[in-house]
Amino acid sequence: MSVPPLVICLGNVVADHTFRVEHIPEPPAKIAARSYSIGPGGMAANAAIAALRLGGRAAFWGRIGDDLNGEPLAEALAAEGVDVTGLRRVPGGRTPVGAVLVDPRGERTIISFRGAGLGTDPSWLPLDRLKDAGALCCDPRWQEGVAAAAAAARQAGVPVVLDGERSETRILVDLVPRVDHAIFSVPGLANFAPGCEPEEGLRRALASGPVTVAAVTQGEKGVLWLTRGAAKAERTPAFPVEATNTTGAGDVFHGAYALAMAERMPVERAMRFASAAGALRARDGATPDRAMVDGLLA
Ligand SMILES: Nc1ncnc2c1ncn2[C@@H]1O[C@H](COP(=O)(O)OP(=O)(O)OP(=O)(O)O)[C@@H](O)[C@H]1O
Ligand SMILES: [Mg+2]
Repeated sequence: MSVPPLVICLGNVVADHTFRVEHIPEPPAKIAARSYSIGPGGMAANAAIAALRLGGRAAFWGRIGDDLNGEPLAEALAAEGVDVTGLRRVPGGRTPVGAVLVDPRGERTIISFRGAGLGTDPSWLPLDRLKDAGALCCDPRWQEGVAAAAAAARQAGVPVVLDGERSETRILVDLVPRVDHAIFSVPGLANFAPGCEPEEGLRRALASGPVTVAAVTQGEKGVLWLTRGAAKAERTPAFPVEATNTTGAGDVFHGAYALAMAERMPVERAMRFASAAGALRARDGATPDRAMVDGLLA
């Protein structure tokens, strides 16, 4: 059998500290957690883990600090099987962290810190490795990194997928024209095209550059997508599941979609494949493997 395709994911990795609590207290308060865990979160990191569990090879490119939160993240990604040779430990940098409080009904309160002192210079990225990749999947948290990697990927003929997640308008307006597949969240599309109806926002994304597919994921309403030259947008409905935790469904969708591009699936099939992966993540609160996704698709 041939080697599985490589998906390179570039952007954010976050040390998520998750506390399960009886209730979210009003301050001032001091309460005990029922349980605690630390693990990798962040859009591109979750996408890398998804691409890997779904049968691809995955590499993560990004930055962490050399603080107490950084190294456990690198270890956790490596333990999943993600290639972390493009994960840089920045001296004096502060790793992005999240404090996630989960109550017994699964309601979440998230406090996040985006990191500091991580630098923006992408010149150290191992861009020559893109020639071996089947797809590049980026989130908008490292604008300079996306710009450099997307240019190299497009030059190498490697499709670029952007997670158009909530960001400053100017960042999305800069990044969208650099990619082949711009796949927004609902707030991300509103940031990219303020005041527009969704389909109009997708049209703007296609008109902004060589983008061939523009889409917006809408949770349990599914995903609305538009391809270059098509008269109107299509909708791939969500798979009906009993959701227990929808955090990360979008990240998993993007990792799955990027893998589908690396496997050269047609867009409609890729949307269904990624929707199934997102639905299982929402149902289980954990990233599914390929057999689970194939099971739901069948
Ligand atoms: N409750 C759900 N039931 C079924 N499918 C879901 C559900 N939530 C998400 N999905 C699937 O995952 C895709 C991505 O989810 P969503 O649109 O919520 O991403 P998001 O807003 O980027 O969220 P996040 O970034 O927090 O994961 C949806 O288009 C859908 O196919
Ligand atoms: Mg998202």
